[in-house]
Amino acid sequence: MRYRRFSDCSISEKLLDTFFILTISAGYLLAMVLIFTVVAPLDGKSGLSVKDIEIKYYGNRSGTRLEEVMKGPMRVYHSLPEHEEIVRWIYAGATEQQYIEKVKPIIDEKCVKCHNPGSGLAIPDLTEYQKIKLLAEADIGISISALARVSHIHLFGIGLLFYLLGRIFILAEMPVWLKRSIVAVPFVSIALDIGSWWLTKYIPVFAYTVMAGGALMGISFAVQALTSLYQMWFYKPKGTEM
Ligand code: HEC
Repeated sequence: MRYRRFSDCSISEKLLDTFFILTISAGYLLAMVLIFTVVAPLDGKSGLSVKDIEIKYYGNRSGTRLEEVMKGPMRVYHSLPEHEEIVRWIYAGATEQQYIEKVKPIIDEKCVKCHNPGSGLAIPDLTEYQKIKLLAEADIGISISALARVSHIHLFGIGLLFYLLGRIFILAEMPVWLKRSIVAVPFVSIALDIGSWWLTKYIPVFAYTVMAGGALMGISFAVQALTSLYQMWFYKPKGTEM
């Protein structure tokens, strides 16, 4: 039996496939932008590292969210002595007494113009001690509900995308063993990536397998998308083997 190949596709089908691949590629690039703007700064340094992933899932158990953020994205809004004052307060137990004396004046002057309940921004309200205190507690990483939410969205979303991309890709010509492997890799990488999110929540060393799973997913996406686009428009089949 002879299976369908790109050479059997109408121009309409190739156009449909091409626009689909281009659209999800744009989506993939934006997912990368999101990772580099949201996850990469977590350790206070630019660039995506295993440490960033560890902080996202496992948390930063030796530090606090407030400290991390003040070292990272919010560092431009206050001076070094102010930073040290707040960090000292955090490690002295973050009491209300000391808060009123030492920390509130800094927060009121430097942070509250943005971080107030009327700002309309989805950022923490820093006008009340109780709310700041929560940020001054050790960061234990992503919550189970948030993890379940992002996991199921990714499993449904990426599962569907790789299924559709895979259906296009199997029209390409190449040795069967290679094609079978390339079709399977994305699903293995999804399992590796998302499974490792859960493991990292409890055991930080799995941040490495999160990284490996994500990289493998990106590579398999690129291979399937580029091979499909190339063979669809530029490849002349030699025979009808496979
Ligand atoms: C010019 C406005 C502005 C000022 C001033 C400002 N922030 Fe922010 N802050 C933001 C915005 C916007 C975000 C959300 C985007 C982000 O995380 O970069 C944010 C996020 C945060 C978060 C939450 C981050 C998270 O991911 O949980 C904390 C905590 C925070 N800021 C603390 C501070 C502190 C402390 C100061 C004062 C030293 C400060 N901010 C000054 C605008 C501001």
